[in-house]
Amino acid sequence: MITVKSAREIEYMRESCRIVKETLEYVGRNIRAGMTTKQVDELVYKYIVGSGAVPSSLGYEGYPASSCVSVNETVVHGIPSDRVIKEGDIVSVDITAEKNGYNGDAARTFMIGDVGEEKRRLVKVTEECFFKAVENLRAGTPLYDIGYAVQTYAESYGYGVVRALTGHGIGREMHEDPSVPNYGRKGTGIRLKAGMTICIEPMINMGTYKVDFSREDGWTVTTADKKPSAHYENTVLITEDGVEILTL
Ligand code: MF3
Ligand code: CO
Ligand code: CO
Repeated sequence: MITVKSAREIEYMRESCRIVKETLEYVGRNIRAGMTTKQVDELVYKYIVGSGAVPSSLGYEGYPASSCVSVNETVVHGIPSDRVIKEGDIVSVDITAEKNGYNGDAARTFMIGDVGEEKRRLVKVTEECFFKAVENLRAGTPLYDIGYAVQTYAESYGYGVVRALTGHGIGREMHEDPSVPNYGRKGTGIRLKAGMTICIEPMINMGTYKVDFSREDGWTVTTADKKPSAHYENTVLITEDGVEILTL
């Protein structure tokens, strides 16, 4: 069921989304080579809890941490561990926070030192995919126009668009309907309505779009060819004449 949020619910969403945005800015100021991904998760936990919110991923279907920290070939759902972040890595940090019963969800891919031209371009194009998707988005837009915009742009660079995972609605639950794929045919899908809140999150691979799901930990998603992947996500409110990006 797709929910349309009331004015009061949207105020709560704004608040959780502001905390998510600030947490990612805090991580951006502090992440560096030599840290473990677990230390990144500690920063996330500290900031979210210090803001009076709760990290929604902690305990979500058994997930053991406050964030997903995904390095290089890890697409998403990297479990914070003793893996040490190195100069030249790209590190996606994805967090969801809940306050007053409502969730905000966003991800950024941080570049650690000099990552080189190829990774720099991948990260930049992944962010641009998001902005292409919201460019003409408003109440009445067919849902799969989002995926069409992401896919067309990413594939024009020869990148692979992950299909096995998608964006999603968000609100009381971290994952609500509808599913928001990063691929699709223009002009198809349900028409979005003002008051819907959705997460648009391009996951873009330098090589093949195919991914592997870890059989050891049940979470970690990596590229099938082990080439790098980038991720960029925001929570977005659909309005009559456009969108409001709540986590920016
Ligand atoms: N934040 C992720 C998303 O964008 C979901 C993480 S699920 C978790 O949908 F359990 F790994 F936290
Ligand atoms: Co997320
Ligand atoms: Co999400």
